[in-house]
Amino acid sequence: MSSLDQLSLDALRAHAIETYRAGRGTRPEVMLIKLGNERAVLKDFSRSDPWFSRLIGPLAAYREARALRLLEGVPGIPGLIRRVNPRAILMQHIDGVPAKQTPKGVVGPEVFERLYRLVEAMHQRGVAHCDLRSGGNTLIDSHGQPYFVDFVSHCVRGRRWNLFLRWAFGKFCEADRVAVARLKKRLAPDLLTAEEMHGLERDRTMLLGRIARFIGDSTRKLSRLILTRKKA
Ligand SMILES: Nc1ncnc2c1ncn2[C@@H]1O[C@H](COP(=O)(O)OP(=O)(O)O)[C@@H](O)[C@H]1O
Ligand SMILES: [Mg+2]
Repeated sequence: MSSLDQLSLDALRAHAIETYRAGRGTRPEVMLIKLGNERAVLKDFSRSDPWFSRLIGPLAAYREARALRLLEGVPGIPGLIRRVNPRAILMQHIDGVPAKQTPKGVVGPEVFERLYRLVEAMHQRGVAHCDLRSGGNTLIDSHGQPYFVDFVSHCVRGRRWNLFLRWAFGKFCEADRVAVARLKKRLAPDLLTAEEMHGLERDRTMLLGRIARFIGDSTRKLSRLILTRKKA
């Protein structure tokens, strides 16, 4: 058993060497922890604003941990090390750069092929990410291997009889694929295929996508208004 398996939340925090995201408002604290040669990432919703942390924190940490468990062993998804407490999880560290910080023109076609394969492997396990539009949730390492993080918004495939959930899951899978096309449009527009351009155009006008975005934005604004002290 590694030592990261045993440390308390405070002890883990004492070994933080970098803060990826400061916790405030509806946001968790995300930190890189280093212990000897071991590295891990601590995502801690107890550092969000108190009411958000109390009411939503356990649900958010549960959802992220559930997705990581469902995706265990998929190359490109960080492994869950453990749920440190109801509001905090510890996961494998990915040594990569967020896609939003990747400059245009440096990413080749093989990276997008890998991204589509990763999206496919995730969907095969019954998980749609649902937040790949955010360029902070895709990391790319120095070998061009992509990774996905931040599974709080994920959606799982419904049971066989649940036709509505299965239909919605299909739509969320499509949204994940369109997010890859969107990233390609930003980083390597010359590589876009006619099918991808068609997907991007359809996404722009798709009613379900617009409704989902509206619900997502409104929920976020409402929880900020009710559960946090100031705008995050
Ligand atoms: N497992 C990880 N390995 C490396 N960096 C990570 C990992 N998880 C998160 N990060 C970094 O922390 C940032 C914020 O984490 P994220 O889970 O996306 O939180 P938020 O919900 O606040 O967006 C990410 O954009 C990424 O740069
Ligand atoms: Mg994120």
